[in-house]
Amino acid sequence: MATFICSDLPLGIDLQSWCNGRCDYFECKCRIAAWSWFIGPTVDCRSSGDNRLRVSVIGCGHVGLVTGACLAAAGHQVVCTDTNAARIAVLTAGGVPIYEPHLGAVLRSARKARRISFATNPAEAIRAGEAIFVCVETPARENGEADFSAIDHLALQIAQEARSPKLVIEKSAVPTRAGAELRRSLFAYANSRANYFRVASNPEFMREGAAVSDFFHPDRIVAGVEEQSAATDLRAIYSSIIERRFTCPIHAGNCPSTREVEFVVTDIKEADLIKHASDSFLALKISYANVLADICEKIGADVDRVTRAMGLDPRIGAQFLKAGLGFGGFCFPNDVQAFIELSASVGIDFAILKAAESVNKERISLCLDKVRKALGVLKDKRVTVLGLAFKADTDDVRFSPALEVIRHLLEEGAEVRASDPEGMARTKAKFPQVSYHTDPYEAMRGADAAIICTDWDLFKTLDWRHAGKLMVRKLVIDGRNLNSHQAMQDLEFEYYSFGRGTSASRAQLENPVETPALVEDPCDAVETAKAI
Ligand code: UGA
Repeated sequence: MATFICSDLPLGIDLQSWCNGRCDYFECKCRIAAWSWFIGPTVDCRSSGDNRLRVSVIGCGHVGLVTGACLAAAGHQVVCTDTNAARIAVLTAGGVPIYEPHLGAVLRSARKARRISFATNPAEAIRAGEAIFVCVETPARENGEADFSAIDHLALQIAQEARSPKLVIEKSAVPTRAGAELRRSLFAYANSRANYFRVASNPEFMREGAAVSDFFHPDRIVAGVEEQSAATDLRAIYSSIIERRFTCPIHAGNCPSTREVEFVVTDIKEADLIKHASDSFLALKISYANVLADICEKIGADVDRVTRAMGLDPRIGAQFLKAGLGFGGFCFPNDVQAFIELSASVGIDFAILKAAESVNKERISLCLDKVRKALGVLKDKRVTVLGLAFKADTDDVRFSPALEVIRHLLEEGAEVRASDPEGMARTKAKFPQVSYHTDPYEAMRGADAAIICTDWDLFKTLDWRHAGKLMVRKLVIDGRNLNSHQAMQDLEFEYYSFGRGTSASRAQLENPVETPALVEDPCDAVETAKAI
């Protein structure tokens, strides 16, 4: 049997476009009489003899788009779809609708190799893939429960539109039982065609801002399956990554040596749980560091020094111990909430996770207390917020601590100016009354205070001497502990950060009787150049 990859056909014949929409071209083994004299008796639209598959990705958000683009770069033929027609239009026109380092380059090479296409019609994508990745949002409802309506709707569409067997893979950002829910809905809608479908859960562990790197250099790939064949197919999809047979778009063939990628096969509910447990554990770790910061502030210790030394123990690890404004983004806040709800639904009170959540919420109040303490009243004060994205290297402002800070500042009558390398457009849609500046120095002109909310490199290297000349008052509240206390002190800034005790509070530790007032009020314990 002659086998071809459609996009590899000779003489520029684009059989893929011909096929697309007319048949289930990814599995059709379409016998095209018109061409058979030319290319042999059978055109099998799927390649054989290698691990290249026809893959569809439903949902072109941070998870879906990175997954689709990277799988195409890894050699698969990919069709991506999204209900957001504007997003698909941008992608079809060659653009990149989200900011994610390296994603533009990966998409460009996938387009050049004609391995990726974008469809507004989900039916087209559903029919196209042997394997369908479901990468839609499963947000939390107000009561904390996950909202599975998008997954349920998709299951119905897949059941209605599929014309051939599919491996349907759940890979949403917050998969509270998402794999299990997908399976339940799909089989309910499939009725007599249930044997068309196999379902798998393949949780993602990509960080926004480092997603492409994480995709190509994963620590582990988890395949939650119900049958061995699904695990085999998932392994085939990721084979070039597991076996390191890809051209790395980031390190150009010189990837830093990393550990072997472990391909972990579990059942679906365990895979879902692995994702929850991992994200929630990291969130716990951050909140732990933040409580530690509170203690440090009280007793005059430096949380960065303490966590650094803790992290040297490989059982603890250095990552996710950075104290400050706390965690944001779509994943951790939703995931923690959903895991608490999931545990409650089976009679388990996940008290430590509840504590982590409330510690995280307190960060905003602590930050605002520092601002209020320094400025007195906020009304009519000009406050500059440096950083809007929930973390560096992304334009994502969902559940960003910065936006909470802005909301409170505005409620208390402050005039807010803001700067962020990528997050301004999305924030503007929520807070049009804020004045936005591409240049952070311009944002600080005439300001009574600056609050650093995101750990962008740009804010680590600001010329504070210059900024100090532009500000009305040299006051900085550093929500990400980016600056050296000493350096800010040398520039005569009032500088407040999180969990980095002052010599004043150290004195209080050494002589608690003589300076009791410092113990009562955390804001008295924060470091100010004046206090020192
Ligand atoms: C997180 C996980 O790290 C990924 O493994 C997972 O795939 C992803 O969620 C997901 O579930 O989709 P992400 O939310 O993109 O990734 O970003 P992180 O780097 O984990 O940071 C989350 C938040 O924690 C950010 O607001 C960050 O500023 C904060 N953070 C992180 C800290 O406050 N301290 C730290 O030490 C580390």
